[in-house]
Amino acid sequence: MKKITVIGAGNVGATAAQRIAEKHLAEQVVLLDIVDGVPQGKGLDMWESAPVEGFDSAVIGTNDYKDTEGSDIIVITAGLARKPGMTRDDLLFKNAEIVKGCTENSVKYSPNSIIVVVSNPLDVMAYVAMKASGFEKNRVIGMAGVLDTARFRLFIAQELKVSVRDVQALVLGGHGDSMVPMVRYTTVAGIPISELMSAARIEELVNRARNGGIEIVNYLKTGSAFYAPSSSAVEMVESIARNGNRILPCAAYLEGEYGLNDVYVGVPVKLGSNGIEEVLQLNLTEHELAELHKSANEVTSNIKKLNL
Ligand code: NAI
Ligand code: 2OP
Repeated sequence: MKKITVIGAGNVGATAAQRIAEKHLAEQVVLLDIVDGVPQGKGLDMWESAPVEGFDSAVIGTNDYKDTEGSDIIVITAGLARKPGMTRDDLLFKNAEIVKGCTENSVKYSPNSIIVVVSNPLDVMAYVAMKASGFEKNRVIGMAGVLDTARFRLFIAQELKVSVRDVQALVLGGHGDSMVPMVRYTTVAGIPISELMSAARIEELVNRARNGGIEIVNYLKTGSAFYAPSSSAVEMVESIARNGNRILPCAAYLEGEYGLNDVYVGVPVKLGSNGIEEVLQLNLTEHELAELHKSANEVTSNIKKLNL
């Protein structure tokens, strides 16, 4: 892959750019921010680690969208991060404006790109980016499920004292508070989690994962999580860049799948060089489907507030 751009050189954006360069997912990694000097400084600093880390990607920091021209993938992390006491929805109006602007500027120079949205509130921002880009639905994807699932997987591995590599889980729905964990699809080396843990303990871990973002905000106080979020975004970028066909829970635009329409919400998708190659449709129970609809309705009500 030739070029991957990360918009927003803050905690998530800079760490994502670093991971993209270290994995050599593109010949050129561009880091863009509105603050003068920050992307340039972080970009050069990152590039100077290349001889030590042994990667050949060039890392360019800029404030000018012209430098992003011809990008294959654009990762949007620009926006405000949550502070203690602030909900994701407090960010809704401000970040919608930022994400709309970043998307419009990006697609002007990279009309054939695939966009991965990270900015919060995630599902709504993915919708904003799709509308602002005018792209087909498979080319605008939101990152949330990979992170929510990673948190849940870690907590299960810690509890059972097993390798994180053996824990698989699936989380559907909106990001964070409204996520819908699919306990039935959560396994340890193929063994259903219900055979290894009590229902009550599973519920406790689900709640911890649901509140995983807040747990980090409460520690950091001046910002929100970025190591696991950047890893999660880059796992998606890698599957697109390498045509990996990974099955990952991502926020996707739905038109009838799961009985949902005109909304972005987390569902399992196959990610390849065209972005979303396929939305996997599971046979959900009545209760699971109701939970997914409840979560999607919350996203829809926020989308409506924006009067797009
Ligand atoms: P941060 O505050 O460290 O970085 C945000 C960056 O965006 C700043 O450098 C800022 O200058 C830049 N920015 C603001 N307006 C811009 C514009 N118009 N154009 C270009 N750059 C602009 O925040 P952090 O921690 O990197 O988080 C970024 C976003 O990602 C937040 O909205 C946060 O809530 C979200 N997030 C989402 C996650 C998810 O699971 N989807 C997980 C973690 C964070
Ligand atoms: C998180 O879940 C802030 O959405 C971000 O950590």
